[in-house]
Amino acid sequence: MEVAETVSSVRGLVEAARRQGKTIGLVPTMGALHIGHVSLIEAAVQQTDFVVVSIFVNPTQFCPGEDLAKYPRPFDADCEICRKAGADVVFAPTADQMYPAENLTWVTVEKLTEPLCGQFRPGHFRGVTTVCAKLFNIVGPDVAFFGQKDAQQAIVIKRMVADLNMPLEIVICPTVREPDGLAVSSRNQYLNPEQRKDATYVYKSLQKCQEMIDAGVTDTQKILTEMRRVLQQVPSIEIEYVSIVDVGTLQDIDKIAGKILAAVAVNIGPARLIDNILVDSNR
Ligand code: PAF
Repeated sequence: MEVAETVSSVRGLVEAARRQGKTIGLVPTMGALHIGHVSLIEAAVQQTDFVVVSIFVNPTQFCPGEDLAKYPRPFDADCEICRKAGADVVFAPTADQMYPAENLTWVTVEKLTEPLCGQFRPGHFRGVTTVCAKLFNIVGPDVAFFGQKDAQQAIVIKRMVADLNMPLEIVICPTVREPDGLAVSSRNQYLNPEQRKDATYVYKSLQKCQEMIDAGVTDTQKILTEMRRVLQQVPSIEIEYVSIVDVGTLQDIDKIAGKILAAVAVNIGPARLIDNILVDSNR
């Protein structure tokens, strides 16, 4: 496995792979890799011939007051995880490589970035779509892999790729969970043991939603009330949002019908945690 730190070196490696007729997979990450990232790399290894994992803590997607400075950066351990999972290249640019001059060009997806996390993290999705557009232009993958845990991010990136005719496919891989249901996340390591236990209530609230839909409840407000009740059992949980939205528009819905996304964002101590489930109420 090679480690490329510059745009020209990763391009050189990808061009050499292309000359051998290989398809290119990209797994964009901010490092602090865990089993969720491993599942993305493994999917990329299965579906493409040459896998690039980018590791870049993208400053433009952090809002003022967020955890940019303390975001974990265990680079050597990350490289080892990539190597074991079968990646061919780790692309780990510096901020100067990615943003050599004041950035004057931004990619903004409208509407889909306004609800859910967009309400609480102004500018976050503009940073995500801009860095992903840059990574797609630098690496030129045939397929890029993202996790369903960041559901809004996945939907926004798919839309950017469609709207801008970017020549790649986006594959969304299922959320990986700990045995007690907690979605794996780099930010889980901010939790102390007590907070880690409390964090399981995030998925419990989503399971409550699933149970109610399975039982035929269609009134969204009733479901949201019960989901909040689950979260409110835990004093350390500060709810940011609990929402049930249409998967196409991400707008709130009154009645459950067709495919819906139930999404939760909470703060527990130092960690902001998000999770979601997709439910097809027709099944
Ligand atoms: O999901 C992430 O880790 C980041 O938002 C991404 C897609 C790597 C862009 O920086």
